[in-house]
Amino acid sequence: MLFRQLFDRESATYTYLLADPASREAALIDTVIENVDRDLELVRELGLTLRYVLDTHVHADHVTGAGTIRTRTGAQTVSGRGGAPCVDVVVGHGDRLKIGAIAIEVLATPGHTNDSMSYLVGDRVFTGDALLVRAAGRTDFQNGDPGQLYDSITKVLFVLPDDTLVYPAHDYRGRTVTTIAEEKRWNARIAGRSREEFIAVMNGLHLPEPARIREAVPANLACGVVVASPQG
Ligand SMILES: [Fe+2]
Repeated sequence: MLFRQLFDRESATYTYLLADPASREAALIDTVIENVDRDLELVRELGLTLRYVLDTHVHADHVTGAGTIRTRTGAQTVSGRGGAPCVDVVVGHGDRLKIGAIAIEVLATPGHTNDSMSYLVGDRVFTGDALLVRAAGRTDFQNGDPGQLYDSITKVLFVLPDDTLVYPAHDYRGRTVTTIAEEKRWNARIAGRSREEFIAVMNGLHLPEPARIREAVPANLACGVVVASPQG
């Protein structure tokens, strides 16, 4: 598989390009609107045909590039049930998308948000904010639920093979990848904790509101069209 990990400096978002080398069909996961030119340049340079633009969830910290990329390439936008109503393909647990010979399997991993999906591609899983390197996405907005996140991590992600490579939507310390085994042992929020302890940890985080949430969430519900928010 052809694979690239791209980075957005402002929001510390990772965007992933996956492609089947034989058919040249490709998909992008978690694009950022400011980087659409960069991403489409790479797609063009590698001679790829973009089939899908996936989001792992409705993001609160950046605006997705999905709608812009759909307009410019004809690729289909994809996200999970309960998320952006504007997408072409709404996916749920157990669904599969194909890019050439490569299968993208959808795993429902709600809890950070109600619409959070992970995408399993061979020995790699793209977890969005459900499972981060040594952390897990906050659960205090967008219908987040720490108990549900505990179940998603322990019953859906931690049952994958230990050497599965975990690619998150963000990292703020420059870490690019982890594995299921590493997170079972070292994840600061969940390793060694019961469901009740995890809920207490998540409910005690008291994090500041993401800088762009009032712009990003309404824009992402419209696939990346920036709309004025009533809160300004
Ligand atoms: Fe998020």
